[in-house]
Amino acid sequence: MCGIVGYIGPRDATPIILNGLKRLEYRGYDSAGLAVLNNGQLELRKDAGKLSQLVEHVNKSPIQGAPGIGHTRWATHGVPSARNAHPHLGQTGRVVVVHNGIVENFLELKDELTAEGIEFQSDTDTETIVHLVEHYMAAGLGLVEAARQTFQHIQGANVVVLMSADEPDKIVAARIGNAGGVVLGLGEGENFLASDIPAIMEHTQRVMYLEARQMAVVGRDQIQVETIEGVPVKPQVHVVSWDPVTAEKGEYRHFMQKEIHEQAQALTDTMAGRVDFARGQIRLNDLKLTQEFAKRIEKITITACGTAAYAGMVGKTLIEKIARIPVEVVIASEFRYSDPIIGPQDVLLAISQSGETADTLAAMEEGKRKGAALWSIVNAIGSQAMRIADGFISMQTGPEIGVASTKAFTAPLIDQYMLAIHLADLRGTLDEKTRRALVADLRLVPDLVSRTLEREAEVEKIAYRLKDVHDCLYLGRGINMPIAYEGALKLKEISYIHAEGYPAGEMKHGPIALIDASMPVVCIAPKDPWHAKMISQIQQAKARGGTVIAIATDGDELVQGMADYVLWVPETPWMLSPAITVLPLQMLAYHIASIRGLDVDQPRNLAKSVTVE
Ligand code: G6P
Repeated sequence: MCGIVGYIGPRDATPIILNGLKRLEYRGYDSAGLAVLNNGQLELRKDAGKLSQLVEHVNKSPIQGAPGIGHTRWATHGVPSARNAHPHLGQTGRVVVVHNGIVENFLELKDELTAEGIEFQSDTDTETIVHLVEHYMAAGLGLVEAARQTFQHIQGANVVVLMSADEPDKIVAARIGNAGGVVLGLGEGENFLASDIPAIMEHTQRVMYLEARQMAVVGRDQIQVETIEGVPVKPQVHVVSWDPVTAEKGEYRHFMQKEIHEQAQALTDTMAGRVDFARGQIRLNDLKLTQEFAKRIEKITITACGTAAYAGMVGKTLIEKIARIPVEVVIASEFRYSDPIIGPQDVLLAISQSGETADTLAAMEEGKRKGAALWSIVNAIGSQAMRIADGFISMQTGPEIGVASTKAFTAPLIDQYMLAIHLADLRGTLDEKTRRALVADLRLVPDLVSRTLEREAEVEKIAYRLKDVHDCLYLGRGINMPIAYEGALKLKEISYIHAEGYPAGEMKHGPIALIDASMPVVCIAPKDPWHAKMISQIQQAKARGGTVIAIATDGDELVQGMADYVLWVPETPWMLSPAITVLPLQMLAYHIASIRGLDVDQPRNLAKSVTVE
């Protein structure tokens, strides 16, 4: 999704913006550009393709100055090209804009502006913004007021950043709806803004966030925040602790590989400060859950997108089993259109790595509208899904850069396990012995993860065997059924191999017709309560000549005797097993994509944080 960086201060903005955009590459983009103010003139460079092309362009034809704004674009209106890349200049050449989101009334606005004689230079919806600003400036307004008028006229969820050669002392930024975030970074005699923290964290760790329908006038020495309607606001200053080093690849070839290997640490971090092993209890302070409310909850609806939704499906089993509260999982893009049956006695739990996914935020808004309590499990600190929730659990796993989510999948599995115990404890539905045993099992997790990840070489060997397949079926049951979905999603996302996840018991109702010698079948068959059922699925797949790759518990001779390949996992308490069985599947997808020479961290057509509907 589009990335934005801005700088105002005494330094040259060009390298600050280019480095910042580099840190936002993980969001996915197809063109990039920047504009700086030099001796009263706006200078622009932009190009289709990767940021390296823009850097080359700037090296050949340097620009310098400040303030400056830059952008990586993920095309919505108009093909990826230099012409459509941001920033976009107005007709006077004195105002420039970058934008993330979709201007929903752009066709109407374009018609009106064209009727005024304006010639559009691009196919983007973004260009209407800069022409509107110039329209108001021509009528006598300054940049800030002209921008405010414009923000009130454009519809949809948008982030807009503007500057003008005539007012070099400011950058104006607005977050109009639930589009991507705006982080304002506070420096000394200089200030920064960006879509996300990694872009500016080498310069400052003191940040503020814009909420929906707020705008900021960013100067060198001060930042003024107000609502789009003009009411002053005083946002809280957060100090973020992520250091730049954690956002680097280190010894790994790809961020995804690094993040897979960070999972022992990530799951330790997600438990940090929350597990009282001595008392056998869980503390989730940020959830702000009272015993009275815990007892009143009638239903929990989990909503999320992509990988996060599959994490939610595991959560359903955990919360129902441990806390005995009915749980349903609804894909966030469907939730608000389903006239959901949810009310004050219910909880809507959103799960999101970025905390900025438009569909997830819209689902939360709908839940709030219907009076449900809003909870979120979120990785990005200070993100919208964290801020608008009544209570939250921070994943605490540090930045995730690879587009295909890994550690932000396993962390919420552990978070929901803790949540289930906490709920059961408050509701008095768990006997002490069982509760203590469940809590004690958490201790095993980091070591089980490490031992599984140590087996990467075995996974890589199997990846070589599978690298040329065209289709792949993933089967699982019970608590490991969502792992079949997630394993298939990982493979299709980064290797572009068609893969389908299926509840194993459904195989006989359709997918079995697909099975022949050319169809690998990945069977997730650890020693959990569904083990015997999975054995019979493996037999059925083998009987049709399928190649079976099984995920099995160490020492399981039965599976070993039937499967063509086995990816072994250590014995794990079944309710925690999805956090372990998914690991070989992440590594399998990673190695297949890497052997195929693909862009693992930024797969085609995908974005890390999807901030449009
Ligand atoms: C995008 C990403 C997925 C992610 C999904 C939800 O599609 O490519 O990896 O699972 O969004 O993102 P979230 O930030 O809400 O977890």
